[in-house]
Amino acid sequence: MIYQKLLRPWLFRMDAETAHHTVFNQLKKLQNSDAFLQLVSEIAAVKSPSLQITTSGLTFPNPVGLAAGFDKNAELLPGLAASGFGFLEIGSITAQQSDGNPKPRMFRLPADEALINRMGLNNEGAAAICDRLKKRSINIPVGVNIAKTPGVHKNTDSSIQDYVTSFKLASETADYITLNISCPNTGDGKSFEDPELFRMLLENVLPHRAPGIPVFVKFSADTDDSQLEKLIKISEEHEVDGYVAVNTSTFRNGLNTAPELIERIGKGGLSGRPLRSTSESRVSFIRERIAPQKTLISVGGIASGEDALNRLESGANLVQLYTALVYEGPQLPGKINAFLKERYGRG
Ligand SMILES: Cc1cc2nc3c(=O)[nH]c(=O)nc-3n(C[C@H](O)[C@H](O)[C@H](O)COP(=O)(O)O)c2cc1C
Repeated sequence: MIYQKLLRPWLFRMDAETAHHTVFNQLKKLQNSDAFLQLVSEIAAVKSPSLQITTSGLTFPNPVGLAAGFDKNAELLPGLAASGFGFLEIGSITAQQSDGNPKPRMFRLPADEALINRMGLNNEGAAAICDRLKKRSINIPVGVNIAKTPGVHKNTDSSIQDYVTSFKLASETADYITLNISCPNTGDGKSFEDPELFRMLLENVLPHRAPGIPVFVKFSADTDDSQLEKLIKISEEHEVDGYVAVNTSTFRNGLNTAPELIERIGKGGLSGRPLRSTSESRVSFIRERIAPQKTLISVGGIASGEDALNRLESGANLVQLYTALVYEGPQLPGKINAFLKERYGRG
């Protein structure tokens, strides 16, 4: 309530990225205080054995995770863990540091409870981030999402080597690794969602697998059924451990926001409410095509306990969110978990 009534109106007067950094930097300072973390955890965290999930050899205290992109550099882990998330996915990280695209590059669409972003994989680089991650003291799983450094590769081999570099570094510290083959915002054309390139990527990356660290693949929202079918088949042949679906979309259909504003914003990935139905439909599509023990993380437009329950009942093991945090505030993971606990308690 405090977030919606007081903080959100204040933050929404700022540009979307400035608002993100304002909240982020405040939390970064506050998380140095054990008393603050204790207080947040007491208010936000919902603990119950009924929420616990074990999948791909990892145990998650609850199924609600933070999606990639919010804490790209792994700077806010204690604060985020105290907020009640069951796991955190950091990144995307890339082998080389990247400043991303020019600003402005993140836009709110309040009429759709959505965001459009073209951040372009801004991050401090795999080595620095993985070093920071090694020093973590939180006790929930942390996944590392890896992508290709934007704008520097002239051929497929060097793009693949970029993933391999990040993969090896991530393997030293991650609880799981997500291969992000779906970032729509780097503008350098080549996508590893092309089935043959994807096969080559897996053939080069997976031999560096570390025991006990599952590898997941993250798909775009825009992949059509037949392409997705092919990518899943290749993944299953290579014994990928799980899937994250979906990333943002380049589509703009069915929005409430004025077309002129959409036009002015320009390129970028759409996230939040408008992604809900696509993401929902991907859960059963993927679940029907993978081995039962494989992990499926559903992400896209999850903003309530009902949304999360729907994904879990359709075949996801875990869920993630990002955009709804901007609209609903930091108490959202706790609210979703309280709803799930109540439902599971009754069941
Ligand atoms: C500002 C922003 C940055 C993002 N950056 C990344 C990223 O670096 N890597 C990635 O895999 N996904 C990234 N995502 C996508 C999210 O992880 C998620 O897949 C997508 O936003 C859909 O979930 P949501 O509707 O809950 O936001 C980003 C999303 C946003 C809004």
